[in-house]
Amino acid sequence: MTELPRLEVSNLTRSFGGRVVVNDVSLTVMPGQVTCLLGPSGCGKSTTLRLIAGVDRPDAGEVRMDGALMAGGSTMVPPEARGTGLIFQDFALFPHLSVSDNVAFGLKGTRTEKRLRVHELLEKVGLARYVDTFPHELSGGEQQRVALARALAPRPKIMLMDEPFSGLDNRLRDGIRDETLAILKEEGTAVLLVTHEPEEAMRMADEIALMRGGRIVQRGAPYNIYNAPADREAAAFFSDINVIEGTVQGALTQTAFGQFLTPGYADGAEVEIVIRPQHLSIDFYRDGQAPAPTPEHGVWAPATVSRARFVGTESIVDFVMEDASTLKATIPNVFLPRPGTTLWIAIRRDRCFVFPAGGKSAQG
Ligand SMILES: Nc1ncnc2c1ncn2[C@@H]1O[C@H](COP(=O)(O)OP(=O)(O)OP(=O)(O)O)[C@@H](O)[C@H]1O
Ligand SMILES: [Mg+2]
Repeated sequence: MTELPRLEVSNLTRSFGGRVVVNDVSLTVMPGQVTCLLGPSGCGKSTTLRLIAGVDRPDAGEVRMDGALMAGGSTMVPPEARGTGLIFQDFALFPHLSVSDNVAFGLKGTRTEKRLRVHELLEKVGLARYVDTFPHELSGGEQQRVALARALAPRPKIMLMDEPFSGLDNRLRDGIRDETLAILKEEGTAVLLVTHEPEEAMRMADEIALMRGGRIVQRGAPYNIYNAPADREAAAFFSDINVIEGTVQGALTQTAFGQFLTPGYADGAEVEIVIRPQHLSIDFYRDGQAPAPTPEHGVWAPATVSRARFVGTESIVDFVMEDASTLKATIPNVFLPRPGTTLWIAIRRDRCFVFPAGGKSAQG
């Protein structure tokens, strides 16, 4: 028998004042899995989460948890009866309650049972010594961990988290993110995490649901979304991209880097060949002799450095091509050629994505 999704959202739709904000959204989260709802500001992520939590009602579509209908048709199970834990961006702790009372807030059971569970969770989040402390005496990161403990305390089957780490500084965030993930995995909780940061999604997610303009444009494992983006915008959401434009002739597109196979496009079709900056290769110009073309790299093209910066783990080099188009390369460690220097560059053929011009989704 196949396992039921812990959370199954089908064709969820919600409009405000005639504007569709959540448009036919479907996603699933299996037990113990982390799904990240990733997308730019205003694309409808929080609204989707609110519909799942039950604090808002969908116009159409269904929300199911372990197969049971929570919202859809005339059914609307109230939020407290859905077995979900919620951490919203402002995670508001109760200021007048101590840390332990905050964590105990949603708990049922005897006083001893509650005390044991609160202690267990505060141990897990590394705050056991703060039981009697009040929220204003804690740092932002510590408050965040109390909020996590509070949300986990009633053993929710599903944890809904809306940008839960956004208030934290970078260093603190990495640690808390990893700790949180470890705790959630240990508890076997299914997690739907909303974020607008691709790096956070890649770090946390088993599956990413990429959202844009109210719709899910692509779903998949981080590796697949990064390496096989659905369209140019999906590619650009994860890193800077280079775009090389061309026109198809006989299923081939001619560029400064040689011919590209572009099957499935009609003669005269405009295409965009997209490549991430880390997939450009660089060679020294020497006496102006181009390196030999290879199947991996195609043809090498001369390019002039316009700017080079070192940013910590890598260097970013901007190039101007002979046709005045520009390209960006990232190179590990320190590589700072002087502006005006000419180099040979090539692009990794297996790392290129071809899309129809105009930024719309792939051929088909
Ligand atoms: N109750 C509401 N009434 C009217 N419009 C709303 C309501 N809630 C959300 N919206 C609109 O829906 C759109 C999506 O909002 P939502 O909060 O879901 O975006 P988001 O993806 O979470 O963005 P962010 O990353 O900035 O938090 C926004 O344009 C917002 O103004
Ligand atoms: Mg939001």
